[in-house]
Amino acid sequence: MPAKIIDGNKIAKSILENIKNKVKNMKEKPGLALVLVGNNPASEVYVNFKEKDSKEAGFYCERYNLSEETSEIDLLKLIGDLNQKESLHGILVQLPLPSHIDEKLIINSILPHKDVDGFTPLSLGNLICENMILAPATARAVIYLVESTGVRIEGKNAVVLGRSNIVGKPTAMMLLERNATVTICHSKTKYLAGYTKKADILVVAVGKQNLIRKDMVKEGAVVIDVGINRVNGKLVGDVDFENVKEVAGYITPVPGGVGPMTRAMLMDNTLKAMGLSKKI
Ligand code: GUN
Repeated sequence: MPAKIIDGNKIAKSILENIKNKVKNMKEKPGLALVLVGNNPASEVYVNFKEKDSKEAGFYCERYNLSEETSEIDLLKLIGDLNQKESLHGILVQLPLPSHIDEKLIINSILPHKDVDGFTPLSLGNLICENMILAPATARAVIYLVESTGVRIEGKNAVVLGRSNIVGKPTAMMLLERNATVTICHSKTKYLAGYTKKADILVVAVGKQNLIRKDMVKEGAVVIDVGINRVNGKLVGDVDFENVKEVAGYITPVPGGVGPMTRAMLMDNTLKAMGLSKKI
């Protein structure tokens, strides 16, 4: 039987609708700052979506489009100002940044309770200590999508492909926290299929089209495709969707899977960040 398609668009829409209804009744609105540096076309599209979502949710949104030549010190100054603004509860600096800017330094300058991306070392450390404040939106999206299937995570073999700080590592930590047995594979992993074939839950976040073929997937597995690759103007994931769906139990499409859910989780993190601001 072919896999059930996990409809990220539909789930994200209902989360956003919930957030919108909550915000409607709030006197003070959640505030989100979106910072885009340079002219990366993909980044511009992502920030446009985030701005649209936050406006639709009824948030207060400030967007900063900075030139490619912006200096590190000017960007640090801007973040310092945004950190101080009471009307802003979340700050998102779209990555990647131009190569003359130290990304880690910039991310580190965001106050942890405004770190709606969950990218600061403190946020990631809290995740490991199971003391979650704001977890990375993509990792939250992956967990939400797996849980939406009704498949229990506890006791399952979960394999995460990719070890980035923003997706692979936090996703693995969140699966571990839910008592999965977790394996992280990466570019130096030998005989990838040996791991992926054993995965009840397979999360693929590498950025390589058709990396996961049908013969690499366990029958009935939950397959979450985080990859986004542009091929001849079309978006495709890391999984050979058409063939893998013949063996998987559940699978996310690209587009329409993890992407919209990540944005919904970002809005949810902003709402959470507003709650945190009241506690400090
Ligand atoms: N670039 C790619 N994904 C992301 C994300 O989730 N957040 C930010 N800030 N930049 C990104």
